Amino acid sequence: MKVEFYGHVRQYHNIKSEIDKNIQTVLESGQYVMGPMLKKFEAELAAYHGMQYAVGTGNGTDSIWLALMALGIGPGDEVITHPNTFFATAEAIWIAGATAVFVDCHPASKCIDPEKIEAAITSKTKAIIPVHLYGQCADMIAIKKIADRHKLRIIEDNAQGIGAQGAGFKIGQLSDVVSTSFIIQKNLGTFGDSGALVTNNPDVDATVRKLRNHGSNARNVHSFGFNSRLDDLHAGILSAKLKHIDEYNDDRRKWAKRYTAGLQACKTIALPVELSGYRHVFHLYVVETKKPAWRDQLVDFLVKNNIDAKTHYSIAIHQQAGYPWGKQARIAGSVAHAEANAARCVSLPMYPELTADEVDYVISKVKEWDAQFASQV
Ligand SMILES: Cc1ncc(COP(=O)(O)O)c(C=O)c1O
Repeated sequence: MKVEFYGHVRQYHNIKSEIDKNIQTVLESGQYVMGPMLKKFEAELAAYHGMQYAVGTGNGTDSIWLALMALGIGPGDEVITHPNTFFATAEAIWIAGATAVFVDCHPASKCIDPEKIEAAITSKTKAIIPVHLYGQCADMIAIKKIADRHKLRIIEDNAQGIGAQGAGFKIGQLSDVVSTSFIIQKNLGTFGDSGALVTNNPDVDATVRKLRNHGSNARNVHSFGFNSRLDDLHAGILSAKLKHIDEYNDDRRKWAKRYTAGLQACKTIALPVELSGYRHVFHLYVVETKKPAWRDQLVDFLVKNNIDAKTHYSIAIHQQAGYPWGKQARIAGSVAHAEANAARCVSLPMYPELTADEVDYVISKVKEWDAQFASQV
């Protein structure tokens, strides 16, 4: 048996007629950029979040720095995040010209640890970017309290958590802006690049709408801006898929539950934790090997057995060669949990279209590997 890491083509085949219909509609409309399909999808995305505005962008990285820029955050300002996230979270801070300040993650959730934020705040701090890492929300209630105390903005990097919920809060409810990515492999992914930001702030909406389109919201009238638009073909694909996102996330949760039940007895790995009252949408199902040296061994063993395992993200941002590339950055306190996460993470195949046989095969191979090393724990 071979188990792929992604199921993009399976997903396409399952809802081919819906996707093809929307692509056809766009092609026949003759309007491919800033056309009616984008407008329709933006309205659907805002409604899905229960929020007022959604603005399509070229990708999830742009969504973050456009949000920072719209909030007036740039050179001289500090933005707090954590270093065990995809590189783009920090990259967007640097593109905006601000200083990235890294604090540790929480050892259970792997999301930013709110208890580490306050000590990192200076007079220059302007914002916090919590990442809903792997599909589970950061502790937004605690983060919002800190932000209110220090008058900081919050941008949720929700590239990985669309459809997730926290205990007593929804995504978007406790922040200024939610940014998201629709790159292929995301829970809501298109067949290429694109992103969006969602907000209740009319100024952010209006500013980003202009910034993404050469500083223009009327023909021939421009101000400084960029070209970062979500084109209508991708909007059509995303509109078709958005109708299924809750069922896709339910399927991810079902496979996560099966993995967790099957792997519970393993001694060499720690399994992902769903916090009480949270809805984790398992963008990734990440186990951690108890010894760092085992991370690559487990991945190699699975790959040799035709299981496409990966690592997310095996080098923390501040440990990448050349850090910080002439950009402004600061590490506030120990980031030992984030470093441990990077050193030990192994992602098992996770997508809605997996089959029970495939999940069981992965479980059997992880258990086989575990049996070889269990005595060394
Ligand atoms: C946490 C996180 N932030 C930001 C991004 C950037 O999104 P994009 O690749 O669409 O620029 C991604 C995904 O790629 C991500 O996983």
